[in-house]
Amino acid sequence: MLTVLTSGKGAPGVTTVALGLALAWPAPVLLVEADPAGGAIRHGYGQGADLSGRGLLGWHVAARRIGAREAIWANTVRLQDECWLVPGVDAPAQAASIDYAALAATLTGIGVDVLVDAGRIPGPTGIGPLVAAADKTVVVLRSTLASVHAAQAAANHIADLAGSTSVGAIRVEADSLASVVVGAGRPYPMGDVRAAMTHAAPLAGEVAWDPTTAAALSDGGPAPRRFDATALMRSVSRLASALAPCGREQDSPVKTAGPQPVSRHGKRVEDDDHRLRHRATPPQEPATVGGAR
Ligand SMILES: Nc1ncnc2c1ncn2[C@@H]1O[C@H](COP(=O)(O)OP(=O)(O)OP(=O)(O)O)[C@@H](O)[C@H]1O
Ligand SMILES: [Mg+2]
Repeated sequence: MLTVLTSGKGAPGVTTVALGLALAWPAPVLLVEADPAGGAIRHGYGQGADLSGRGLLGWHVAARRIGAREAIWANTVRLQDECWLVPGVDAPAQAASIDYAALAATLTGIGVDVLVDAGRIPGPTGIGPLVAAADKTVVVLRSTLASVHAAQAAANHIADLAGSTSVGAIRVEADSLASVVVGAGRPYPMGDVRAAMTHAAPLAGEVAWDPTTAAALSDGGPAPRRFDATALMRSVSRLASALAPCGREQDSPVKTAGPQPVSRHGKRVEDDDHRLRHRATPPQEPATVGGAR
């Protein structure tokens, strides 16, 4: 399943929500920083880690040599067990090199759930193909009037892409476009935001206002004690359960026919050999980044 996260104007928290979701996702997951404005996780959550050139630009270069799918796994870093990241480009100019249509095609059916941080829409470089390929597109917003307005515009822009021949048919059925509010009640309550977003992109949930945990995710700030129990992580965990595909036990390419997977911190833990046998391409051993946990 491919889930794209985006926003309208402002910085409502797309990268923070995408990273939080990846860490809380109830199945193996690949997070891709496709924001044409540049990646943020290396210098934030990653605290400036040396990633040995792994990232979206590395994917672009390696794809010609070893194939697009293999190049994705060669450009991942591990965030935690069964959670990988393809870091974004270093600068907006590099985004012009990225073939987003090829990226979308590569991520579709890669064998694990994929979360994409697509940045703001409309943006400087066309991320339309990613939205076109997405099973679900989530517009992130705050509960201010300006943010709701920007989110409505972003959702309408996504719907308008439906007519664009350059990105092909885009799915905008009731359940393929959704929104998530960061910090409900600041100032408008959840009910008001829900009502305002009903027709543009129905609200799928909320992310708690939690500046300390957000700073750990977005700025590499000190990790709060009991990270998984923070308000932000508990709320993204609920959101992950709401957004992750239903019927996973039947549909997942990593499903196990043997013993039930055990749960550890809300994540499935499975036999590695079995997992690798069912993944389209096993990941190479990536660097590990992130100090919040
Ligand atoms: N749940 C939250 N509670 C408090 N602060 C938050 C929350 N989520 C995000 N923030 C803060 O909001 C700011 C912007 O977050 P982030 O960088 O994730 O936004 P963005 O939408 O990805 O922005 P951009 O469009 O510039 O990439 C950061 O300082 C982050 O710590
Ligand atoms: Mg961002």
